[in-house]
Amino acid sequence: MSYLRNTWYVAAMHDELPPGRLLARIYLDEPVVLFRNAAGEPQALADRCPHRFAPLSAGKLCNGGDTVQCGYHGLQFDGKGACTHNPQGDGGIPKAAVVKAYAVRERHGLIWLWAGEAKEADESLIPDYSAVTSAHVDGTIRGYMPTACSAELFVDNILDLTHVDFLHPTTLGSGALSRAKAVVTEPSERSVKIVWVSSGDVAPYAFDINLREQGRPTDQWTEVTWTAPSTMLIRVGATLLGEPREAGVDTLNLHLATPESAGRTHYWYWSTRNFGLTPEANAQATPMVVNVFKLEDKPMLEAQQQRMGTADFWSLKPVLLPGDAGAVRARRKLKALIDAEASAATPTDGAAA
Ligand code: FES
Ligand SMILES: [Fe+2]
Repeated sequence: MSYLRNTWYVAAMHDELPPGRLLARIYLDEPVVLFRNAAGEPQALADRCPHRFAPLSAGKLCNGGDTVQCGYHGLQFDGKGACTHNPQGDGGIPKAAVVKAYAVRERHGLIWLWAGEAKEADESLIPDYSAVTSAHVDGTIRGYMPTACSAELFVDNILDLTHVDFLHPTTLGSGALSRAKAVVTEPSERSVKIVWVSSGDVAPYAFDINLREQGRPTDQWTEVTWTAPSTMLIRVGATLLGEPREAGVDTLNLHLATPESAGRTHYWYWSTRNFGLTPEANAQATPMVVNVFKLEDKPMLEAQQQRMGTADFWSLKPVLLPGDAGAVRARRKLKALIDAEASAATPTDGAAA
């Protein structure tokens, strides 16, 4: 499986990595252990001791988190992957006792991991999702939902939100999206935006119940911005027909996918809204939102992947519908970025000579 390497992937939400925890996850087929050093900064190492290849995540943190001690024979490594302590023999540090260290950064409540060489890490490429992650806590519903499908299927799912009319008809669907014309743009070299607007339909249930009057025609908007390789920002809202957006209800949502492998994906949702900002309203809304993802999206995505098996998506000759315009553009863009990396890494004849 080829992945885009010189880019940031979400590794965890900030509170999945409390001080003192060794968090073992596989990203892009590579076992990684995450932890916080004594200063609280996230660190990421290959989760394989260079001695007899024990998982470092089965060891323990020492020195306030500054080192991780292998649970097998006790070598200790710091967050840069250097061996700092050898309890065996005379205590000399073997030259080869080095672990791969990844560049990691914590930004706005998310921990990001750079999949390329750590020295190439470019912080300017971390998307700014602070508008979501700083939203009111009582208007926030978020969680982690690992799923047995490719990250590309997740991206397809979000970039083609016409599926809400069929997969989530009693909560998020109103029929409006399937009939609306999608407008696709490319805000940058690494992003695709798809927008649906519609007028005259009653808003989906989850929005209708929160408008000033129920069952009335509305103006609705749905905007999805995908940023390579697999993070998506969604704005969805509705207002009574002819009224300004500010008079209606609006939501800002993150859907963050990181490949574990070709057929498994780490997935986080971070949903925020500008209405019902109380603990009671949040407690009431949470089951509906979580069930949409866990009981409707996840089973469908896993069933799709099962039907596809390990076949290449395009080799199955998928039928294309108007709503696919954004997803197809994103797939092509990601492939172009991966191909560009591959050709940059391949020496030309001249360079090889
Ligand atoms: S396997 Fe880690 S110290 Fe031996
Ligand atoms: Fe969905």
